[in-house]
Amino acid sequence: MFEGKHVTLTISGSVAAYKAATLARSLQRAGATVRVVLTAAAARFVTPATFAALTKQPVLTDTTWWHDDGQIAHVELADWTDLAIAAPASANLMAQFANGLANDVASATWLATAAPKVVVPAMNSHMWQAAATQRNRQRLLDDGVTVLQPATGALAEGYAGTGRFPEPADIVRQLEQLELFTPQTLRGKSVIVTAGGTRERLDPVRFLTNDSSGKMGYAVAAAAQAAGATVTLITAPTRLTPPAGVTVVPIQSTAELAEAVLTRFPQADALVMAAAVADFQPLTAADQKIKKTKDNDELILKLKKTPDILAEVAKVKRTNQVTVGFAAETQNLLANAQRKLQSKSLDLLAANDVSRADIGFNSDDNQVTFIQADGSRDQTPKTSKQMIATALVARLAAILETK
Ligand code: C5P
Repeated sequence: MFEGKHVTLTISGSVAAYKAATLARSLQRAGATVRVVLTAAAARFVTPATFAALTKQPVLTDTTWWHDDGQIAHVELADWTDLAIAAPASANLMAQFANGLANDVASATWLATAAPKVVVPAMNSHMWQAAATQRNRQRLLDDGVTVLQPATGALAEGYAGTGRFPEPADIVRQLEQLELFTPQTLRGKSVIVTAGGTRERLDPVRFLTNDSSGKMGYAVAAAAQAAGATVTLITAPTRLTPPAGVTVVPIQSTAELAEAVLTRFPQADALVMAAAVADFQPLTAADQKIKKTKDNDELILKLKKTPDILAEVAKVKRTNQVTVGFAAETQNLLANAQRKLQSKSLDLLAANDVSRADIGFNSDDNQVTFIQADGSRDQTPKTSKQMIATALVARLAAILETK
């Protein structure tokens, strides 16, 4: 997995800094070229000479940064990097990263790096558990950084706790499982993803909606972004945090979703409609809260059809654009899905059976049958929405290739 990859290893002030030498060697043995950044605090525990000799590469420290040779060393290193690993990452380094500081060579390089990032914390257990550190950890996760769990065991302070630097072999094993290097099959492509259940207003305090959590659409947005696409996520309200780096367009109703999609679609290469769009909306939305009175034992709502967005998109779709739909069905799954694919001129449709409680709406898992315009079908196993999203993006990229 590391064959030919450029790994930047940032080492901060920690007793565990000496273990980073073994980590650097393990990464090299796995095929990576490793370049090391030492914080000022790290340089009090380990020396640049150790890492320069091990990696056969210059080591960047605060004292070698900003020379009068015209090099912008932190940006040069950031651009070179395929994977950035901070290990050991002290509480201070995590705080710098989480807050976007660039006040030393380690944080400036990190901030300038667009490559996937992994933090391997190492600190005293109380420092690890401190609210501020946990807040910084969450921020890093929200920014798309992978934060490994520190190990539990003997600490340098003489007592046991959680905060130990994991063994280098464990770190490499965990990194290998992360699939950090996603093939950039959508590089240069612009992809719109819609997500969540639309809300159709009845009155200022009530709306009609559905059980969609938005998880599938958010997973597709993240997978498309990981594959190198520029992603616009048009989203109905959800409880989810959008993937870092995607452009988020919040909408509520089907009409707003239709307008957001139709204005952006001409500039896009692909559209994935994962939103659960209401089929009907109230004929009129009341200006004031609908009141119950002693006479109205029944309230009759009149609904009208919403615009079918994919059908509208089909009318303006160019031959080099790809559209992907979802079909959530409770019966006759494949027959209904096939009909949708044709009526909406889709290239790909992911059909799922929402009558099953273990998959579909709100669940973390899903199982879909992909149906393509050429009639081919393949069914995924029941798996996470992330895996389904990756499978969908792979098919989307392959279809775009043929356009
Ligand atoms: O609701 P239906 O099962 O027809 O949805 C199939 C696909 O069509 C989904 O991808 C959904 O996002 C999209 N859709 C749409 N406009 C609607 C209803 C659904 O684009 N009004």
